[in-house]
Amino acid sequence: MDIDFVRSRFIKHFDGKTGNVYASPGRINLIGEHTDYNGGFVFPGAVDKGVMAEMRANGTEDTVMAYAIDLKDRVDFKLSDPDGPRASWARYIYGIALEMKKLGVPVKGFNIAFAGDVPLGAGMSSSAAMESCFACGLNDIFGDNKVSQWDIVLAGQATEHNYCGVNCGIMDQFASVFGKAGCLMRLDCRSREFEYFPFKPDGYRLVLLDSVVKHQLAGSPYNDRRNSCENVVKHIAAKHPEGTFETLRDCTWEQLDEVRAEVGEEDYKRAKFVLGEKDRVLAVCDALNEGDYEKVGEMMYQTHEGLSKDYEVSCEELDFLNQIARDNHVTGSRIMGGGFGGCTINLVRNDLYRQFIADAKKRFNEKYGHEPKVYDVVIGDGSRKLC
Ligand code: GLA
Repeated sequence: MDIDFVRSRFIKHFDGKTGNVYASPGRINLIGEHTDYNGGFVFPGAVDKGVMAEMRANGTEDTVMAYAIDLKDRVDFKLSDPDGPRASWARYIYGIALEMKKLGVPVKGFNIAFAGDVPLGAGMSSSAAMESCFACGLNDIFGDNKVSQWDIVLAGQATEHNYCGVNCGIMDQFASVFGKAGCLMRLDCRSREFEYFPFKPDGYRLVLLDSVVKHQLAGSPYNDRRNSCENVVKHIAAKHPEGTFETLRDCTWEQLDEVRAEVGEEDYKRAKFVLGEKDRVLAVCDALNEGDYEKVGEMMYQTHEGLSKDYEVSCEELDFLNQIARDNHVTGSRIMGGGFGGCTINLVRNDLYRQFIADAKKRFNEKYGHEPKVYDVVIGDGSRKLC
C-alpha cells in the first residue's frame, strides 16, 4: 500500500485538494488470548500491514464525506445524525469522530479516503487499525495532537463498544497505537503498564496461516464469552465479601472451584481457560528471557487446546491447521485473536518452514478446496502521520 495510491483516490473522489496521510497497523499476538477484558496480560506486536487514510477538514460544520477505496463505496453522513451511517466500515469513522469529540477534540466536517492491506476478518484487527488511524488523523487535524496515545486507544475501544456491537478489550487498539518495529509488547491490561520486548528469535520465525474462514465478532459469541467470565467473577465476589474482585485476574483456582457447581460447566470452562492463559503469558515471558523457544511453543499449543476445547472459539479449519503444525514438528501453533475463524500463528524453525507451508497448503486444499493464505510476520510500527 502506498501513499500515491491513496492520494490519487482522495483527489479523484473529492475536490482535487490533498490532505494529510496517516497509517495504523493491524496486530499479531504471541500469547494471552481473551485475557485483556479479564484484566490479564497480552503479548501483541504491530504488523507491517494496516490501514492508510488521507483526511482533510472540508469547511462544513459536521458533514463527513467518506470513501472506502477497497470497496469502492462512498458514504456521506452528518456527525449530528443520532443514528449515524449504516455501512459497517463508515460506522468506525462516525464512532471514532464522536468519541474524539467526547475527549474535547472539536471535530468538524471532513473528507476521508482510506485503504487497507490487513486482511479483513483474519483476526489481525483490521478494525483497530481503522480506529487508531482515523483517531490519529482527527487528533492532528482538529485537536492539536493533545489527546494522549492511551486516550486514543480507549476511544477506539469505545467505538467498538458503542457503535459496532463488540465488547472487546484493549489489546488490539493498544498494539495498533503503541507498536514498535522489531518489538513485541507485554501489556498488563489491569495496570496498563507495558514493556517492549525485542523479538528476534534466532533460528525461528513467525508465520500466520489464514484459514480464510471469516471471523465476525459483532453481535457474536465473543460477547457471550465475556459475559461468562463476568458471571464467574460475580459469583466469586458474592462468596468473598472481604475481597475485591473486578475481573478474573483477581480470582484463584480454588475460588473458581468453589463456584463451579453454581455457575455451571460452560462458564466454569471459560474461566478455567482464562486462569490458565494468565499463567501461560508469564511463563512465556520467562522463556523468552531465557531464549527458550521450545517452551514458548509448548505454551502456544496449550493455548490452542484451551481456546478450542474450553473457550470454544475455534473451528474445524483452525483445528486442522493446528494439527498440520503438530505433524510437521512446528514449535508452537495456535488460533490467534478473537477466534471463530481467521488465522493460526505459528512459531516454526527456519529449517522446517518450507516443508510445513507446503504440507499445510496441500492438505488444506485437499480437504477444503482452497489453500490457506500465508503471511510472514514482520513486526512494524504503530500509528503515525506519513505526510
Ligand atoms: C479480539 C478483541 C480483543 C481480544 C481478542 C482476544 O481481537 O478485539 O480485545 O479480546 O479478541 O484475545
